[in-house]
Amino acid sequence: MKTRITELFGIKYPIVLPGMSWISTPELVAAVCNAGGIGWLATGPLSTKETEAAIKKIRSLTDKPFGAGATLLMPGAKENAEVLIDMQVPVINVSLGKPDDIVKRVHAYGGKVIQTVVSEKHALSAVKGGVDALQVTGYEAAAHGGKVANLCLIPAIREKVDVPIVASGGFATGHGLAAALALGADAVAMGTRLATTKESPVHERTKQAHLAATVEDTLYSNRFDGLWCRVLKSPSAEKSIRQGMNLFRAAIVGPRIAKSLNLSVVKVMLGMLAQPDKMITLAHMATAFDKIKAATEDGDYDKKGVQLIGQCAGLIHDMPTVQEVIEKIMQEAREASSKAAEMLK
Ligand SMILES: Cc1cc2nc3c(=O)[nH]c(=O)nc-3n(C[C@H](O)[C@H](O)[C@H](O)COP(=O)(O)O)c2cc1C
Repeated sequence: MKTRITELFGIKYPIVLPGMSWISTPELVAAVCNAGGIGWLATGPLSTKETEAAIKKIRSLTDKPFGAGATLLMPGAKENAEVLIDMQVPVINVSLGKPDDIVKRVHAYGGKVIQTVVSEKHALSAVKGGVDALQVTGYEAAAHGGKVANLCLIPAIREKVDVPIVASGGFATGHGLAAALALGADAVAMGTRLATTKESPVHERTKQAHLAATVEDTLYSNRFDGLWCRVLKSPSAEKSIRQGMNLFRAAIVGPRIAKSLNLSVVKVMLGMLAQPDKMITLAHMATAFDKIKAATEDGDYDKKGVQLIGQCAGLIHDMPTVQEVIEKIMQEAREASSKAAEMLK
């Protein structure tokens, strides 16, 4: 099959593994690429050395095109982006920030840039910056989806821009893929779905929570990591959101943040006095980071940890291999679109 995304990235199927911290590892990225889709390595939790090793690892596991994320708001993201450019990663997915000269530099070696956007305004500004494609992330998505659901967001952005679109948020089935294409997208990203596969490194206990969740079992709040963010409903998620973050709490967790981000404690504490708002944001992100890691790696999504999850968890009832799920979704999408075409005759 052909869409503008399969053509742009040189892949078989219009299915993308988005960047998910501690989940979109070299192994999972390569499994998706080998099954005909394409995956973005999550570099958020990686040092520059780890990013370099991860890119080498992907190249040892697949000869297919792949990509990597640069979540620009996170400390260390710009340095990681330099590694990706030096290593000529075929696709770079920029999110939570302006790519600036990244686009020009990636184009110079023949690579592509896809920017994650959550609104029409954001999409127009990304296109103006010269990106090759957009990853449009709607309200249904795990983590940082926008305020509008994809049923309206995708066609609204499609009307305004001409670049290929990857629809992200709420897609876990072939019906979703067929619907996304009908709405004007050229591919879908599937985070929660591909995180619930045999190859996914998510802890078994948390995978079982994915399977148990219904479409109503998520919380959407800006009090978890400071941005609007969707997480799995659990006692610890409810507590985190209730607590939120303020200068007093930020001062208590400050030294721990400094340590986890490899920053000087004195610098962080002085920064807190000089720019309290910035430090509250950093404290929010760092504590959220610890909780997400606990859910993904240790299976603790309900006591201290918090799992990021999309509403589409309620559509996921099995734990196949990546290859099996991609083949099934493609088959289901073909059936769903012929059924719709038949009804529209
Ligand atoms: C466990 C988990 C971790 C994630 N981590 C990140 C991240 O580090 N950076 C990021 O930009 N998006 C992250 N995301 C969001 C995904 O990139 C994507 O936007 C989302 O999964 C799409 O929604 P879906 O889960 O409904 O498919 C994460 C999602 C999940 C489920």
